[in-house]
Amino acid sequence: MEMNIVLFGAPGAGKGTQAKFIMDQYEIPQISTGDILRQAIANKTTLGLEAKKFMDEGKLVPDSVVNGLVAERLEQADCKKGFIMDGFPRTVVQAEELDKILEKLNRKIEKVIALNVKDEDIVERITGRRTSKKTGKIYHMTFNPPVDEDPADLVQRADDTKEVVEKRLSTYHEQTAPVLDYYKAQNKVSEIDGSQQMEEITKQIFSILG
Ligand code: AP5
Ligand code: MG
Repeated sequence: MEMNIVLFGAPGAGKGTQAKFIMDQYEIPQISTGDILRQAIANKTTLGLEAKKFMDEGKLVPDSVVNGLVAERLEQADCKKGFIMDGFPRTVVQAEELDKILEKLNRKIEKVIALNVKDEDIVERITGRRTSKKTGKIYHMTFNPPVDEDPADLVQRADDTKEVVEKRLSTYHEQTAPVLDYYKAQNKVSEIDGSQQMEEITKQIFSILG
């Protein structure tokens, strides 16, 4: 069976962290629209420059742009066995478009895993995050401190300030939270307490995915 998964949750809920474990376990790629957009910014492409304006303000990049990126990514061979969507879909329009793209390929989303974390905990998670520019590994200065990393390789995301995180959270509640109802209506959602230890969350995800 194909493993077409959506990993859902607020900013800082742990989507990127858990996506890496799922990738290793099931040998399917992570499709992170945030990572794709940050790569475009690093490459200084027209798309990247356009997207940066929205991201720096904690707003969503327009649906048309992001939908196109995902449609292109899904055509690649490594997505044949399945994929983990991380940070997509983020609006109901994106969710509907994803269903259409998959339908054309005779495929569908099998499961949606939602990581629930309270707003109060999000700011601390986001401001303490550091990512290795060498390995792409995600750390937290308190909850998951880096080991064997050169401190010079650890970077903080441009949108990981307290001010922008608060905007990202309101964007999430207004535009992204309704996506969960969209998938609940399709009976695809499993919810997990995302405030647990990382290892415990991974265990629960694996037991849901089987
Ligand atoms: P994106 O990159 O998707 O960011 P996000 O959704 O805000 O989520 P994050 O990456 O911040 O958090 P995460 O859930 O991956 O958490 P992580 O595992 O790193 O999007 C960025 C921007 O791009 C958007 O604002 C938007 O502008 C644009 N964009 C992207 N996709 C788009 C789309 N589809 N449509 C339109 N625009 C789009 O963990 C966070 C921290 O917590 C880490 O430090 C980690 O070590 C720590 N942590 C993780 N798990 C635990 C745990 N269990 N206990 C303690 N600490 C933990
Ligand atoms: Mg992420």
